[in-house]
Amino acid sequence: MIYFDQAASSFPKPPRVGKEMAEVINSVGANPGRGGHALARKAAEIINQTRVKASKLFGCSNPKRALFYPNATVALNQAIKGLSWQEGDHIVTTSFEHNSIRRPLEYIKQKYDVSISFIQWNGNIETFMNDINESIQLNTKLITMTHASNVTGALIPIEEATKVAKENDILILVDASQTAGHLPINMKEQGINMLAFPGHKGLLGPQGTGMLLVEGNIDLEPIHHGGTGAFSESPDQPEQWPERMESGTLNTPGIAGLYAALCAYEEREDKNVPRETFLINRLYEGLTEIPGIICYGPSSNETRMPIVAFNVKNVDSQEIAMILDTHYDIAVRAGLHCSPLSHETLKTTDQGVVRASLSRYNTEKEVEVFIQAVKEITAAYHEL
Ligand SMILES: Cc1ncc(COP(=O)(O)O)c(C=O)c1O
Repeated sequence: MIYFDQAASSFPKPPRVGKEMAEVINSVGANPGRGGHALARKAAEIINQTRVKASKLFGCSNPKRALFYPNATVALNQAIKGLSWQEGDHIVTTSFEHNSIRRPLEYIKQKYDVSISFIQWNGNIETFMNDINESIQLNTKLITMTHASNVTGALIPIEEATKVAKENDILILVDASQTAGHLPINMKEQGINMLAFPGHKGLLGPQGTGMLLVEGNIDLEPIHHGGTGAFSESPDQPEQWPERMESGTLNTPGIAGLYAALCAYEEREDKNVPRETFLINRLYEGLTEIPGIICYGPSSNETRMPIVAFNVKNVDSQEIAMILDTHYDIAVRAGLHCSPLSHETLKTTDQGVVRASLSRYNTEKEVEVFIQAVKEITAAYHEL
């Protein structure tokens, strides 16, 4: 089969990811930070080395502020709901957000009566910067945005947004769900205050892993309270990080897998020009040559993440995905991709889009087979 649904969860993983997870389940098994015995210490070491590795790779100064969550959604919820909100506060975000940012923002809006500005990204940095600058108010507390659209693969210029945030003393939270593992990211160099990402997408780690990295001394109220292993005598959540922010037993096998994935990413020789970029450019070019196909998002001259969104003219996207699955054994995703805002912008709310997303393990041959399949399907519809 051909797996082109990498933006949902990547598959396959580097072999060492599963191997490491099996090793931890079979030979470690103990609870990290919940005992002084050898196995508990070994489990804690796995967790700590992953904090250190992630901090180093993403430019976070303090590994104690590299936090583990089950996915990007929980990491984003912690970052957004953990800030101290007051009536009248204001938030800037984009019209390309996944529901994992949009819904927590809506929750904050309704609970605290804050206001939200949604900025459009249409490929023009100047307009984007102007729109952000114009939206800033005295009471703007947070700028939060995805680093790339999970629907079209469009890269959002976060460096410009971090500049505005810094100039105005506003916090910036970046959702790197579609860029971590595909693009180098450095919080310190890029001026990012909080960075959230899943382990299971571009980083090629396991499901059940996600991280929130926090720069500087930003104060966050934990969204969960409970056992932290240390400081058990106090009825209150401890002040120390990471304990304050991580209640309950961590996913040690998953985090061990994430560590292996981070090591595999660190060793990539094509980090600056990843091979999936070449593959996606060929796929985009091949699709744009098919009469009856509409492609969305960046043009061939613009940077895109390894995602192409398209439709067969006047055909429901789910129907195309189903034909690709049942007749060609090709996995893609169709519909709204948890990002209704993007579809309002693209005017595809009714039809959705078919999304093909790649990883470095996909091949040129798979791309050619895919283009041929879409050609055949489109021709069949047009003959009707
Ligand atoms: C841009 C973006 N943000 C957040 C998420 C949520 O990730 P997770 O499923 O790990 O919570 C996704 C998942 O598709 C995404 O594409």
